[in-house]
Order: sequence, then structure tokens, then C-alpha cells
Amino acid sequence: GTTRSYEFNIELQNVTRLCHTKSMVTVNGKFPGPRIVAREGDRLLIKVTNHVSSNITIHWHGIRQLRSGWADGPAYITQCPIQTGQSYVYNYTVIGQRGTLFWHAHISWLRASVYGPLIILPKLNVPYPFTKPYKEVPIIFGEWFNTDPEAIISQATQTGGGPNVSDAYTFNGLPGPLYNCSAKDTFKLKVKTGKTYLLRLINAALNDELFFSIANHTLTVVEADAIYVKPFKTETLILAPGQTTNVLLKTKSKFPGANFLMSARPYVTGQGTFDNSTVAGILEYESPVPMKNLPLFTPTLPSLNDTSFVSKFSNRLRSLANSKFPANVPQKIDKHLFFTVGLGTAPCAQNRTCQGPNGARFAASINNVSFVQPSVALLQSHFFNKSKGVYSPYFPINPVHWFNYTGTPPNNTFVSNGTKLMVLPFNTSVELVMQDTSILGAESHPLHLHGFNFFVVGQGFGNYDPKKDPKNFNLVDPIERNTVGVPSGGWVAIRFLADNPGVWFMHCHLEVHTGWGLKMAWLVLDGELPNQKLLPPPADLPKC
Ligand code: C2O
Repeated sequence: GTTRSYEFNIELQNVTRLCHTKSMVTVNGKFPGPRIVAREGDRLLIKVTNHVSSNITIHWHGIRQLRSGWADGPAYITQCPIQTGQSYVYNYTVIGQRGTLFWHAHISWLRASVYGPLIILPKLNVPYPFTKPYKEVPIIFGEWFNTDPEAIISQATQTGGGPNVSDAYTFNGLPGPLYNCSAKDTFKLKVKTGKTYLLRLINAALNDELFFSIANHTLTVVEADAIYVKPFKTETLILAPGQTTNVLLKTKSKFPGANFLMSARPYVTGQGTFDNSTVAGILEYESPVPMKNLPLFTPTLPSLNDTSFVSKFSNRLRSLANSKFPANVPQKIDKHLFFTVGLGTAPCAQNRTCQGPNGARFAASINNVSFVQPSVALLQSHFFNKSKGVYSPYFPINPVHWFNYTGTPPNNTFVSNGTKLMVLPFNTSVELVMQDTSILGAESHPLHLHGFNFFVVGQGFGNYDPKKDPKNFNLVDPIERNTVGVPSGGWVAIRFLADNPGVWFMHCHLEVHTGWGLKMAWLVLDGELPNQKLLPPPADLPKC
């Protein structure tokens, strides 16, 4: 592979959308940020220099970071933040991966404006396992806030109130014609007839899973989370924040004499306030003669809480599982784990008005532990044997309270606070069942694991049954990915091999839930062999 260098200057930039202008933290003044393109096997050197007053870190979402955990990016997990005036070079090699991923800020809510596509092409002269596209187009979904999202996060974490919702969803930073004062800020995809386009769809929104569809066009899904899948056709997709999906769009063979909206809007199962508006872009055919006022077709999207569509769609995603792209699903499991994930409550701080049930503050937890962010980075603490007082290596292997997760919630919905890590010896094969607890209403939680891909071997509704459900697990061609929705009112089972030493964050990719504590970390120990150990930190690694 070759080495590719990028410079990311973190700087303020005035951006106007929906007739509101505000100063935002950006990379190189761009919103969304610049596109990174590399090939499988390449080394990336991305020098991030912080010119703003807030701290920053960047995460390369979905990159395996084999033995290079120092470059992963989540603040206080693998590194201390890059402070004002400092630089840090993220240095990693893309090993055994190709496809669409993205990068984003991984501190506070800065990923609202600091994100961009991360595209890994196959090695030179290696074809895709599908029709060679005429053109490739990244479409990154995001959210626009008229106000400063940092004010929202502080409200959400301190009072535990529901999040103030964003003011628009966006395609490549553009809200599109269905919002007021936004028609000129519309993403347009100009296409020719009879061609195949590869759309690289990325959901970088903060708090919403999104349905996506293009009027009068069928899409062929060929990849999810940078893993090729058995191709299938669909009119509509669902992407949770943190998920990416590649689809082929075959354009009509004759000029259709119309334009077509592509649109996205949320899938919501929880309660509370949310933005149910629709972002739209336009698929525009190149016309043989100049045309005016062409009719515009609009796609039909599923209803806001269409869980049945979501579960059917995720069941259709299957790995190729062939000799070229085998599905190495762990068959023998060393460690069976059961995690409850969901919302709960915590006592309201004095002198505050909290918005949770009975005046409590909303909180969220995994196995009842609401993760508390340390003030020094976990990976550094571990590597330099300074874990005392920073974290506990005893993450609970089972929930503290057992109850009927989909029935009446228990009286006590309080979570406990802690910075606890689940320790795994090198090469442990793990099966993890994650159960939505429905304590404050059933809700889908897109759980993202850093440092690994995992196989989604099963999912279902209701309470997980450890006797019956494993009999139906798919151990042959399950989808392999880095972010999975724990179904609303149900469970999901994943398997992965802990072959990557380091500290790896796992969290709900709904930013407000992360803020409330729906997160934890794994500590994967070094193996015996020299090539099974985490490499030492680079000299420029920031200090806290
Ligand atoms: Cu895309 Cu920990 O995040």
C-alpha cells in the first residue's frame, strides 16, 4: 500500500442554512468535512491541528485499527483531547477492509458539524463483486441545528431533559426544498440514462435513524458497514446513525421527462420530542433538449414507527460468505454475555428541574451501569499501568436487576454510575446478547463497537430466551458490521473475536443516549506473540 497524508485544520466557519447563519467548528472550513479516499492496505497519516477554543478528537468510524488503538479517537477512551494550538497525527493502516465508512469528531456533540466520508477502495486492479459503477456518489446524512448543539447537550446531560431536536436533516450538509428558506440548499444528483451509479450512503445524524428512498427507482443493496452483502433489491432503506450502506442505482434507459425526489426521514419508537421533518434531494436526468418545469415525483416512506419494516430489512442483510469473502463467524464461544441496554433514571441534582419520570433525571445504562467518562484516557492508564482510581476492570457480566424487560417496568429505574471495563484475554470469542429494557418505552438503540466488526447472528422481539433462541442463530452467512440496532422491544445477538488488543468503546450511536451513559468499554489484553500486542503510543499523543 501507499501512504496518504491529509491535513485537518480545525477552524471556525460561518455557515448559513434555513436563513440562520452561525459560526461552526469545521475541518478546513468545510461543512460537511473533506472526503478521505484510500485503498485497502494503505497507510493514512492525518494531521489534526486544533485552531479553536474547544478540545477535539477525530474517530475513524468502522476502521478496525488493528493494534493501532492510539489512532481510534474517542476522547478519554483511547486518547486525551487535542487542545487548542496542539496537533496530533492519526496514523493507521487499513487492513482487510474496503468500502464506505466515515470519520467524525468524538468529543461532546462536535460531530454535528465535524464529519465526512471515509472511502476505502479495493486494492488496485481488484474489482467490486458487482457491476462496475459508471460513477460513485457519497451521500452523507446529517442534522442541522439553528442553535449551538453544545447548549443542547449540556441541557440533556445536566437536567436529563429530552434533547432539543435539530432543525433539519441534511444530505451532504443541505436540507433541501421541503424546508423553509432552503430550496437553494438542495443536493442534486445529475444522472445520465442507462447507467449504474454507486451511492455511498452514510448516516452521520446525531439522534435519528433514517429511512431513505428515491421516487420510482429500485435500489440494489451491495454493502453495509464496509462489508459486501448478498445483493438484494429494495425501494426503501433504513440506516441508523453510525451505519453505512452502498446501493446501486440503475437509471432509466430513456429520458423520463420528470425529476425524482430522494428523501429521508426518521424512524422513531421512543417517546418524547423529535423532528419528523423530511430532507430531500433531487435526482435529475440530463435532458436531450432544454426542459422547464418538469414534474417532480415523491417517494413514499414507511411510517415513523414501522418496526416491522426495520426488522425485515435487517434480516435481508447477509454476508457474501463465499471463498473470496468468507464469513468467519466464531463457532465455539469462550464467553457468553448478556447486556441490558436502555434508559433509566438518576436522582436530579439539587437546584435543578429535571424532566424524567417523578422529577428524576433521564439516564441510560448497560447492565444498569451508566458509564462515567474519566478525566484521563483509559488506554493510556492501562498501557502505563496507572488504572488505579481511573477504572474498574469488573464490568457486570449480567444485569443487576432481572425483570420482564418487555413487560411492566420495575419500580426502581435508577441506574448506578461507574467507569467499568469488560476485560477479555486476547482472542476470546464472545457472544453478546443485547436486550432492550423498555423501561421508559421500547426503543431501538444503534449500538456501535469500536475496533471490531461483529456478526449479527440473531434478533427477535420480546425477552431473549437462552434455551430456545440460539437454535435459530445464523452461523452461516450473518451480516458483519460495526453498528447494529437493538430492536425496539427486543434483542440482538452478536459474535466477535477479540483479536485486537486495546481499549474499545461501545455505545449507542444516538448522541443523547451516549450523553446519558449508554456506553461502556472493553479492554482486550495483549497476546503472547510479538504481533499480538498493542504498539506503543506515538510521541505526539496528547496529554490530559
Ligand atoms: Cu461513530 Cu464511538 O462512534
